[in-house]
Amino acid sequence: MVTNTIYLAVVSAFISSSIALRVTSGVTNPTRRAAVDGSNWMHNNMNILGGRTLKQICIPGSHDAGMSEYKPGTAFAHPCNVLTQSLPIKGQLANGVRYFDVRPVIGNGGRFMTGHYSKIPGGSWQGGNGQSMESILGDINEFSRAHKEVVIVMLSHTLNTEVGNKNYRPFNQQEWDRLLRLLDGTQNLYVTDGRVYLPSLTLNQLTNNGNRGAVIYIVNEPVNLGARLGKGFFASANIRLYDEYSNTNNLDNMARDQINKMKQQSKNNYFLLSWTLTQGPKEVTLCLTKLSKSIKELADQTHGHLQTLLPVINQSAFPNILYLDNIVSTDVASTAMDINNKIRW
Ligand SMILES: *[C@@H]1O[C@H](CO)[C@@H](O)[C@H](O)[C@H]1NC(C)=O
Repeated sequence: MVTNTIYLAVVSAFISSSIALRVTSGVTNPTRRAAVDGSNWMHNNMNILGGRTLKQICIPGSHDAGMSEYKPGTAFAHPCNVLTQSLPIKGQLANGVRYFDVRPVIGNGGRFMTGHYSKIPGGSWQGGNGQSMESILGDINEFSRAHKEVVIVMLSHTLNTEVGNKNYRPFNQQEWDRLLRLLDGTQNLYVTDGRVYLPSLTLNQLTNNGNRGAVIYIVNEPVNLGARLGKGFFASANIRLYDEYSNTNNLDNMARDQINKMKQQSKNNYFLLSWTLTQGPKEVTLCLTKLSKSIKELADQTHGHLQTLLPVINQSAFPNILYLDNIVSTDVASTAMDINNKIRW
């Protein structure tokens, strides 16, 4: 017992001294920023963000947010060319992500899943499935019950993968209605006029002055939302998002292209900065043999460079959404808050 206690004391002394060491060395590093609380960063900053509109705020977003797990798909699909994230929606929320690119598919025996597919020459589809829509719904509900944050879910790229490989197609109205009935189970849906321009709403309006969470779905396909329009569900016309990826695997080219787009487009649009690299045709196949990089390895190259945005941005040219692959820490949220602190209104 006594030796155990001494051992524990020594171990805990060692642990706390190494923590102290890390904190100290962090302080001496001028580039290190204050860590944000990923689950509450909006709420914790309501004093500066509450009166701002979504258009005046920068938030982290995740590309193909459901693709953190791999449910085998077609012949040439592999985690290296299908997975974009490492954490489920729950973990991304905890790391500060507030905009989610969710791509629902029907697969795995008629279930609503997320997917990542592309059409290859010859007309067949390649890809695989990720987190189920039901699981995503559970993650969002659990989060919005406990945290008074704004969560935006962009639904697009739907695909029914159970109609023969050459015939994959977007959901029809009936399939959308079924998915929307599932999502009707979302708590803290944000309800307003169906004609609203969402980027014009302030965080105070969205969260009832910091007193509740607000979940917003954007249905980015020609779907009749019927009575749901404005009741947590909105059309692409309600947000008019500018979202153009660079389609390159080269970091410098991507950064140059996205910064140019930001300078041209962000003043007049709700602007998504697509800080993502895209595998070329060779990488899609060679990553299976580790001869070239996976989507997530490409993503890891981009994260360290996000900071280079700070000197470039100003009040009339900044990103509303920092959109990345493989978000596994609160670093992107810290950068978003650095941007929010730099642009003063
Ligand atoms: C902000 O940046 C844009 C694009 O780089 C530039 O055209 C504009 O003059 C800058 N505005 C201010 C106030 O510095």
